Amino acid sequence: MRIYGADYYPEHWDQEIWDDHIKMMKEYGIDWVRIGEFDWAIVEPTDGVFDFTLLDEAIKKLKDSGIKIILGTPTTTPPAWLVKKYPEILPIDHSGRVRDFGSRRHYTPNSPIYRQYATRLTEKYVQHYLDVADMWQVDNEFGCHGTTYSFTESDRIAFIKWLKDRYEALDNLNKAWGTIFWSQVYRDWDEITFPLNTPTFENPHQMLDIYRFMSDSNIDFMNAQIEIIRKYSDKPITHNFMVDFMDLDYRRMAKYIDLVSWDNYISTDDYEPFRQSANHVLMRSLKKSPFLIMEQQPGRVNWKLRNENYPGNYLAMWTKQAYLDGALGVMVFRFDQIRFGAEQFHTGLLDYSGRPTQRLSEFSKGKSETDGTIEVVRQVAIYFDYENEWIHRINHVNKEFKYWDSVVEIYKAVRELGYNVDFVFADDDIEEYDILIVPYAFKIGEGFANMISDFKGPVYMTCMSGLKDEKNWIVKRAPDNLIEEFGVEVVDFGAIREKEFLLHNVPHHAKYWQDEVELYGAQVLGTFTDGMPALTLNVLNGKERFYIATVVDKHTWIELLHDKLPLKVVGTDVQFAEDKSNMYVLNLRNEHNIVYVDSQKLVLEAFELKKLAKRT
Ligand code: GAL
Repeated sequence: MRIYGADYYPEHWDQEIWDDHIKMMKEYGIDWVRIGEFDWAIVEPTDGVFDFTLLDEAIKKLKDSGIKIILGTPTTTPPAWLVKKYPEILPIDHSGRVRDFGSRRHYTPNSPIYRQYATRLTEKYVQHYLDVADMWQVDNEFGCHGTTYSFTESDRIAFIKWLKDRYEALDNLNKAWGTIFWSQVYRDWDEITFPLNTPTFENPHQMLDIYRFMSDSNIDFMNAQIEIIRKYSDKPITHNFMVDFMDLDYRRMAKYIDLVSWDNYISTDDYEPFRQSANHVLMRSLKKSPFLIMEQQPGRVNWKLRNENYPGNYLAMWTKQAYLDGALGVMVFRFDQIRFGAEQFHTGLLDYSGRPTQRLSEFSKGKSETDGTIEVVRQVAIYFDYENEWIHRINHVNKEFKYWDSVVEIYKAVRELGYNVDFVFADDDIEEYDILIVPYAFKIGEGFANMISDFKGPVYMTCMSGLKDEKNWIVKRAPDNLIEEFGVEVVDFGAIREKEFLLHNVPHHAKYWQDEVELYGAQVLGTFTDGMPALTLNVLNGKERFYIATVVDKHTWIELLHDKLPLKVVGTDVQFAEDKSNMYVLNLRNEHNIVYVDSQKLVLEAFELKKLAKRT
């Protein structure tokens, strides 16, 4: 990888200690640091007075030692003086309560006064650090701590403007939102409010627009900063995205930044290596290019129910895993470990007394094993859409079903069979892939439906797909625009708890959802125990179209796919990847493991990564 670094907070230390920190960075191969992203109160101590002395001195020392700098704009921490002067910049949450000063991310991007202060600061910052920044990070984790959604009067005004741009006439909005239902008709734009704390279900069409608007508001604020940075600097600009996070349309956001970076933390109670990998690959897929890990969890964090500790070699393994999934580099959050502050229980690469830890030495060792950037070959494409995640959230047939979790099950199946995955979006070029999977995609749209029809390889599409339109209405006949292609029509559907699904007459588990399918030319390959079709195949001009009328788990997906994707790795708990010339096998066990690749027996040590040249 090209970037080995850490997130560093010189402002948390007496200046005499900086030299020791930098010495250790050099010794252990930390070549990059990200700094500055929480420093608003330091660089603008009072309104309009700017003082960069502290950061200047730290940056000078780092640069003099040859360390590269990613500078974060500190707009995520509006200072106390600003909040006191203009409390209206504070966001209001769904229950109508103000989210107050005292932690971070306490602003709404739709507050004009906040925007004015934030952009003034960004401009000063960029002008001042033009010559030293090697990369820019805009703000920090938009949407973190549930801050994507804010419902102040400024947000409402901005929402109405956004709606006017989208619908032009109020009548169009009334039609699109179906406001005739429950007498929600608007006669004046200004009557539109956010449906907070409503007695029962909100309008699902309005809700989809609210999700779109809130995502757009953050993108718009990010772009206001990007515009300023670009005016002065030609250095790459990024923003740090989050794990399993779907509030913001990262695909749209990615178009405005130069490279995707993201913060890799274990989001679930238990560590699932392939879930982590699915997140890496989603990030790589946003721009179909290498991504940077801006914050890698080093060991224990401070924000989970149970903050487990991990031995240092986990950090080495996570780093190798990122490499295998196409990372450009890894930065660890954080270099220094501190005794005070809200994150005092969080680990860093140093310990509380400033000594290097096993995490640091393990991270450093990983450097020699992760040379260059792996460009994996294109094999399997899985369709993903942030708006579909919102549609799934808004209302449901079965609340237990979770879109991203179920997509991750498919991801795991494909990776366990030994194949690379890219997530693809409706405006991607998909021709190069061997197989396309379209899971639980409520809204497909005509454009992507045509791309599915044109796709030469086999397509696996599941229930729920093509059931809704752009406005979040249910379509008249599903799957929308694809009935002929798949040779089936979904005439009805409902929730199930669990049912048997017979594949090759062997029972498998079906969950959450069952379609009632009518056949228009497709053959039945699998049924529910009541005889209803569960799996069908339509062959049109030699193109195979599989329809799965329910939700199945990873094991059944492996069964479904292995005809087309014969097993590449015999064995478990390994991650396999291949580029044009090499194959890579990473042992995900913290103990030795034996697997077979290409008939070769591989004995892998704990978390070992092996690279094998492909046979020609
Ligand atoms: C991230 C955040 C960092 C730090 C870290 C702790 O979400 O960007 O500033 O708080 O979590 O795990």
